[in-house]
Amino acid sequence: MLEQIKNTASFIQDRVREATSAGASAAGTKTGAGTGAGAEVDFATPEVGIILGTGLGGLVDSIDVKAAIEYGDIPDFPVSTVEGHSGRLIFGLLGGRRVVAMQGRFHYYEGYQPWQVVFPVRVMKFLGIRTLFVSNASGGINTSFRVGDIMVITDHINLIPNPLVGRNIAELGPRFPDMHNLYDAGIRAIATRVAEAEGIKLQYGVYVGGTGPTFETQAEYRYYKAIGGDAAGMSTTPEVIAARHMGIPVFGASVITNVGLSDEVGDHEDVQKQGAAAGKRMTTLFTKIIENLL
Ligand code: HPA
Repeated sequence: MLEQIKNTASFIQDRVREATSAGASAAGTKTGAGTGAGAEVDFATPEVGIILGTGLGGLVDSIDVKAAIEYGDIPDFPVSTVEGHSGRLIFGLLGGRRVVAMQGRFHYYEGYQPWQVVFPVRVMKFLGIRTLFVSNASGGINTSFRVGDIMVITDHINLIPNPLVGRNIAELGPRFPDMHNLYDAGIRAIATRVAEAEGIKLQYGVYVGGTGPTFETQAEYRYYKAIGGDAAGMSTTPEVIAARHMGIPVFGASVITNVGLSDEVGDHEDVQKQGAAAGKRMTTLFTKIIENLL
């Protein structure tokens, strides 16, 4: 497994370097005035990883894209169960930093094994990321939440099979990883500051990750509320667990696309629509936080 992760990471880096050095010589892009050795930016070693969930797809338009690789072209990447587009890894600049963004993620409900869901996160670690940003759409459980709100994830309850089950890969992290400060308090503080400056309203709360693909029953929304949840979704918790296992600080935010404890029925199209509506604010938030990372 570890070999597979490392091999996939080096395959990706080779591809990105091929694409960017070709692009650089054509466009003459170099950093600074000096064009001596080492002056070129290595986009194959991103500082920040981003998983673009529903609501953050538009962030791609803010990235100064230098290279993009289809998941289908990456050996050992999970094969998409969804027909048509399988997703892409995007490399470029955002908020002045080198980033890699996953356009499309792998959900447990699609039939992937838990380790497959987190495989790309582990690959991103070997690309060099030092921080992971995740986004998703979720159903509000906290009754003060409204459709379109953005919730900064302060903690989570994972109800999806844990991706660390199985033989521990010691090179990645410990057998029993600590899950305190799972969503980095320092980055959350930056988020609060940035949101104030930008006039973006934020909610804060606990994300409950369930398997899906069903939306919750009314009784399940009440159950999630009773156990301390503020929002319910079908992703994110496995990826965050894998990131923290490897010691990577995480920031997560969720677009509230429906309000669970109401009479409205779960509707995928509605979720997509509400996700898109909050997209601009999410994009601003993520970009500004990345700009202000220490
Ligand atoms: N439940 C689970 N996942 C979701 C929801 C929800 O209500 N809304 C968007 N994703």
